[in-house]
Amino acid sequence: MHDTVEWQALGAHREALDGVHLRELFGGDSNRGERLVAETDGLLLDYSKNRLTEETMELLAALADRAGLRHRVEAMFGGEPVNTTENRPAWHVALRQPNPPPEVRAEFDHMAEFAAEARSGRWQSVVNIGIGGSDLGPAMATAALGAFADTDLDVRFLSNIDGAHFREVTQGLDPARTLFIVVSKTFTTTETLTNATTARAWVADAVGAEAVGSHFAAVTASPNKAQDFGIDAESTFAMWDWVGGRYSLASAAGLSLMIAVGPDAFDDVLAGMHHIDEHYRTAPWAENLPALLGLVGIWNRNFWGWPTYAVLPYSQELALFPACIQQLDMESSGKSVQADGAPAVTATGPVVWGQPGTNGQHAFHQLLHQGTDIVPVEFIGFCRPNYSHIEHHDQLMANLLAQAEALAFGAPDAGDPHRSFPGNRPSTVLLADQLTPRTLGQLVALYEHKVFTQATVWGINPFDQWGVELGKTLATDIAAELARTADPNPARDSSTQSLINRFLAHR
Ligand code: F6P
Repeated sequence: MHDTVEWQALGAHREALDGVHLRELFGGDSNRGERLVAETDGLLLDYSKNRLTEETMELLAALADRAGLRHRVEAMFGGEPVNTTENRPAWHVALRQPNPPPEVRAEFDHMAEFAAEARSGRWQSVVNIGIGGSDLGPAMATAALGAFADTDLDVRFLSNIDGAHFREVTQGLDPARTLFIVVSKTFTTTETLTNATTARAWVADAVGAEAVGSHFAAVTASPNKAQDFGIDAESTFAMWDWVGGRYSLASAAGLSLMIAVGPDAFDDVLAGMHHIDEHYRTAPWAENLPALLGLVGIWNRNFWGWPTYAVLPYSQELALFPACIQQLDMESSGKSVQADGAPAVTATGPVVWGQPGTNGQHAFHQLLHQGTDIVPVEFIGFCRPNYSHIEHHDQLMANLLAQAEALAFGAPDAGDPHRSFPGNRPSTVLLADQLTPRTLGQLVALYEHKVFTQATVWGINPFDQWGVELGKTLATDIAAELARTADPNPARDSSTQSLINRFLAHR
């Protein structure tokens, strides 16, 4: 891509914008903030506070065309094997269709039946055991939609293999009234199986081994493994190899979310996702929110060279959203080779980080305003809260708007460099009416397709994650050594070996 005329035109255009301050861009154009926006289904994207012009957006749209984005989107939506290194589709959009494939519909019906029973008072608490995509999406969404949840049910999420997490999550729970849902596409993930095994023993101690089966459900693409673990076929829900873990919220991986908020609200999440899916597939790039967000991401990453960006929801309910987007974006785009195996020739995925405002303002915003690095920010806010204390929400949103304003325009203070704000720091604002199940679905799909847009321009496969495999293999070897079932590996480096030795001597 870097040797195309479109890429080079963007490079030259970027140089022409060197030294142009956002103050000038806004000063010479009183409608900029009304024009450099896009909206669909009540969700507004304001990208006007980025260092760009309308010409930039035209050049970026040409780059998207040169990368074959429209064709790639059609391939993904058509269920073609766009995950080329694993030779399978990445067909998560099929889950969100009003008329999904029959096997998906059957699974949703099974989930709704199971959720209705779980919500009927049979259980006091539900614990989702899973990690990565089998945890982050449902955990984030369950927290985000707390205002829509059945308050009698305590839905918790256990992910870390650290026993402290098991202790924390099971604290105060009655094993006799707790349902565990083991979510693992592969059913081989060590963290999940270790936690599930401990949970099984914890329940067996309280209710007896024969009753354990009824306390467990599984969500997996390997039902035989779930059955070997002791989970009944009737309590096992399917995942498919054509849905990637970090794209699986709309599948049975969202069972705990469905139990928390009920099948109707879960359907609303899917409807919000589907709206964005169709919008992404059909809207011209200039009006297409996921494409615009991705193209501005390309502009900031590749042409300005900024290596990180922050996702800052001004919503405590979205506290886990940055962590969720971190997996979605970094596991998808943290690649150094293109889909065909050739080395990447441009920078690829940036580092994603963030936490909810206003907390972040009292932690890292100092660096955002005055640090030597530029960090583009994506703010997320809502016009109406899910609570009645309007004065809190007005203050919250005043802070979001003020932060974006301060970053862009700054406040020079010639008399005191310490108090001078340079401004010219880019940000984007996503503003929705209210955080509802539908809005949440929109936001998740928006970021999924943002990631796809960028990966298409970079020529990488956003649906594999080979980079996590080596660590898993080495941990298995070291764990055998720590358990003294394997001898020290003579080829191991001296640092790792002496740390192992010290651990064994001191534990
Ligand atoms: O972190 C690697 C990963 O494979 C993620 O992609 C996935 O979401 C997570 O592990 C959990 O995998 P599984 O659902 O198979 O347990």
